[in-house]
Amino acid sequence: MTTALAPTANWPFAELLSAAESVNAKVDPPVVDGAVGPTIVQNGRELVNFASINFLNLHQRPDVLEHFLSASREHGLTTGGSRMTQGISRPHLEMEQEICRVTGKERAISFATGLLANFGFLNAMTKYIDWGAGMKCDNSDAVVIMDRHSHWSLLKAAEHLEHGKRLHTFRHNSPEDLEKVLKRVSSPKVVVVIESVYSADGSIAPMNELIDICEKYGALSFVDDANGFMLYGPENRPFAEEFAAMRRATFVMMSFSKAIGIEGGAIAGPADAINAFEITSGTSMFTAAMQPPTASTVGLLIRTLDGDPSIVDNYLARVERFRARLTEIGAPPFETPSYITSVLIGKDETADLVKDAFIEKGFLIPMFMFPAVKRNQAVMRLIINNDHTEEQLEYFLSTLAELKAKHDF
Ligand SMILES: Cc1ncc(COP(=O)(O)O)c(C=O)c1O
Repeated sequence: MTTALAPTANWPFAELLSAAESVNAKVDPPVVDGAVGPTIVQNGRELVNFASINFLNLHQRPDVLEHFLSASREHGLTTGGSRMTQGISRPHLEMEQEICRVTGKERAISFATGLLANFGFLNAMTKYIDWGAGMKCDNSDAVVIMDRHSHWSLLKAAEHLEHGKRLHTFRHNSPEDLEKVLKRVSSPKVVVVIESVYSADGSIAPMNELIDICEKYGALSFVDDANGFMLYGPENRPFAEEFAAMRRATFVMMSFSKAIGIEGGAIAGPADAINAFEITSGTSMFTAAMQPPTASTVGLLIRTLDGDPSIVDNYLARVERFRARLTEIGAPPFETPSYITSVLIGKDETADLVKDAFIEKGFLIPMFMFPAVKRNQAVMRLIINNDHTEEQLEYFLSTLAELKAKHDF
């Protein structure tokens, strides 16, 4: 009897999966029951959760849920296609107007996710697009200069650009290196791509210096503010200067999966470019828009966070106390005092053991390992949840101290 070969036998999938198994890398996502929040039920087990990127936990507020449900009834669950076919719902329009108000930009366009916003931006800014009847947009001469620690979505979206010609990178958060690159580049169309808060280590861009240099060399600037949107900016909060300078950026991109804590993304900027993105981004025209109740709830949460600063102020005060406690127990977080309180573990092998030990003790702790960071530079990416109790945080800290001593990191 012959055994039938899998139809994908000539492809490298099985090999990859068995290699992953041999190093204990999990490729099948755990199954979650109930809503994700300060705790999570994964594969039937309740864990205290430090992995959630919607750390303000607004999605669990009864008034927010009620708003979502009533917007679903009023506007339906879908726009039934892309923005151009049947249009955008009124909540999309109002949400985009809110974004213009809080960013000070002329126009905003939303996308189903932040990743699609980044893909759409780099498509629109670097391609030759010809729709016939004179409707063309030739950006095939544009040059992109990007911080080396940029998010995967930006690096991936720039992959079609020849390195050294149309794509250049500069040292992470180094205005001097950016200036060196800008001196070498001779194109009338240059766009510099940076992030406000870098998601692995929580570092913050020296925005004033970077934007000054862009302005000096006549380059456009694009700030991916996925991780900072609605958190930083007001004068009483950390990084007020950096976020004030961000208002000078040509474009600002935001994700609604972080502080807002639902889903979707947007880009705000000059009206002519944003209007053109409706057709040139591709990720607006060839995919479905955000759901109307999602757009409506994002609009509500932008107004809520803007109208009641105490929500974020109190959260950031807790982050500060948590950072101090981490230092007290001998596990100092990375230097930049942002809400991403990552702690260096080092060896990938140790990170694996520590992750499993935390699960044993009842904690879900995300480990950033290669390829998310350099090999053996593994990082425990900690984000506290606004609804963690003090007892949960203290129990975590004592567990961390114990595991640190045991695994020597
Ligand atoms: C810097 C940065 N940009 C973009 C994204 C993608 O955002 P979204 O989850 O909305 O697709 C993320 C999310 O991890 C991010 O950290």
